[in-house]
Amino acid sequence: MFKFQVNGQMRIVGDVSPDTPLLWVLRDHLKFKGVKFGCGGGFCGACTVHLDGQPARACQLPLAAVAGHRITTIEGLSPDGSHPLQRAWVELDVPQCGYCQSGQLMSAAALLAQNPHPTDADIDAAMSGNICRCGTYGRIRRAIHHAAQISADATAKQGD
Ligand code: FES
Ligand code: FES
Repeated sequence: MFKFQVNGQMRIVGDVSPDTPLLWVLRDHLKFKGVKFGCGGGFCGACTVHLDGQPARACQLPLAAVAGHRITTIEGLSPDGSHPLQRAWVELDVPQCGYCQSGQLMSAAALLAQNPHPTDADIDAAMSGNICRCGTYGRIRRAIHHAAQISADATAKQGD
C-alpha cells in the first residue's frame, strides 16, 4: 500500500508492484490522462510531472519512490485552466499535435516558480529535456516570456 498526494489530494494505491513507474499509476490507476507516455526512457519529457515542486519524469519514478511525496500533474496546475502559462499557451496558439505539451507546461511551470523572469538562455536550459516532434520550440519560448509578463502584470495590479 502506497500513500502519496496528487494535486493536493491524498491517494492510496494498493495491489501495484512497488517498481511500477508512476506514469502508469497516474494514467491507469488514478486516471490522470494528461501525463503522456513518449519514450519510456527518460529522454523526451512527455511524462513530466512535479515531485515536491520539482520537474520529474514519471516514467522513471518507481511507485515506491513517491510514497509520502507530493505529485502535481497538468490537471493540478490550476483549478480552472487559468494558470498564466495555460493562458499564454492559448493566446499564442502554441500546440500543434499537442502530445508533448502537458510535459512542456509542467517543465515551464517549474521554471517560472523558481525564476519569474527567465532569459532565453534560462528557458532553453530548463526546457532542453522536453522534445517536441512538431517543432513548437519558438512558440513555447515566446509563451513562457508572455506568461512571465501576465504574472508580472497581475502582481503590479495587486499592488495598485
Ligand atoms: S516518457 Fe518519460 S521521458 Fe519520455
Ligand atoms: S506539439 Fe506535437 S509533439 Fe509537440
